[in-house]
Amino acid sequence: MNAIEIQNLTKVYESGTKALKGVDLTIKKGDFFALLGANGAGKTTIIGITTGLVNKTSGSVKVFGIDIDKDHNAAKRKIGVVPQEFNFNIFEKVIDIVVQQAGYFGVPRKVALKRAEPILKSLELWEKRDQASRTLSGGMKRRLMIARALINDPEFLILDEPTAGVDVELRHGMWQYLQQKNKEGTTILLTTHYLEEAEQLCRDVAIIKEGAIVKTGSVKKLIGSLDKQTYVLSVNNFTDKKVNGYDVKQIDENTIEIDLGMHQTVNDLVNVLNDHGIIVNDLRPKGNRLEQLFLNILNGKS
Ligand SMILES: Nc1ncnc2c1ncn2[C@@H]1O[C@H](COP(=O)(O)OP(=O)(O)OP(=O)(O)O)[C@@H](O)[C@H]1O
Ligand SMILES: [Mg+2]
Repeated sequence: MNAIEIQNLTKVYESGTKALKGVDLTIKKGDFFALLGANGAGKTTIIGITTGLVNKTSGSVKVFGIDIDKDHNAAKRKIGVVPQEFNFNIFEKVIDIVVQQAGYFGVPRKVALKRAEPILKSLELWEKRDQASRTLSGGMKRRLMIARALINDPEFLILDEPTAGVDVELRHGMWQYLQQKNKEGTTILLTTHYLEEAEQLCRDVAIIKEGAIVKTGSVKKLIGSLDKQTYVLSVNNFTDKKVNGYDVKQIDENTIEIDLGMHQTVNDLVNVLNDHGIIVNDLRPKGNRLEQLFLNILNGKS
């Protein structure tokens, strides 16, 4: 059983923008899936169509086997969504926003209040429950959106940039929380521009470019397909731009970047540089591996 099956999905907005040009996407039940793409690639449009906020132009979408054209409400009940834009009433209290959402799904207020407590506690919002949501900070608002999406205990959680604007510590807390949810069986689809987040959390990934999926597969396999990794080195005495067997790019007086092929080792590189009289003070991979792959794909190199 798949959590979502999208076939040949297209969307042309009234403005004439062709946002989706025949998207095929399958997400397995229980998966933790990342949908990655540049600004304007079509991620939010896919989510909007799946959750019923945007009308598709053509194609089909099934959520746990339910066609959204046939039984839209049944499909919707399976999903908890955290939209990219804040869309709650800013004058309402935190607790009311969460509990009312449960009401839309027919959960009695008493039950919803009970459910809300552990959710708000784990997202560190319990102390703020009686405050109007407009008094929350940006990161807290983002967490409120997550709490609201979880109150209905959805089988499928869709998060559109859930950690944008959330500080590092809380982001790590949210990762743990989402990982726990996924372990308990919740299928998760997330979009993010933090590729280390996708690499840490997600099993499978799809990369969308200008309204079409250009790559999909397991994060591990895709990263394994990388044929090189760029390293940033802090060096002394760099004068010689020709280092045998390596592609060297000078960034400034003391900084160079070198691509290492999968068969080349960091050890060999340092030895060769030393042979050239270049002293390596520090060395680190440039960006994370998924980021490298992502950039290669967007630039047509992979
Ligand atoms: N309501 C709308 N009316 C007209 N065009 C729209 C609308 N919403 C999105 N678009 C256009 O559709 C394309 C895809 O937008 P979408 O929001 O799906 O991208 P995205 O991948 O979510 O980008 P981001 O990473 O910036 O959130 C863009 O060209 C965008 O301008
Ligand atoms: Mg978006």
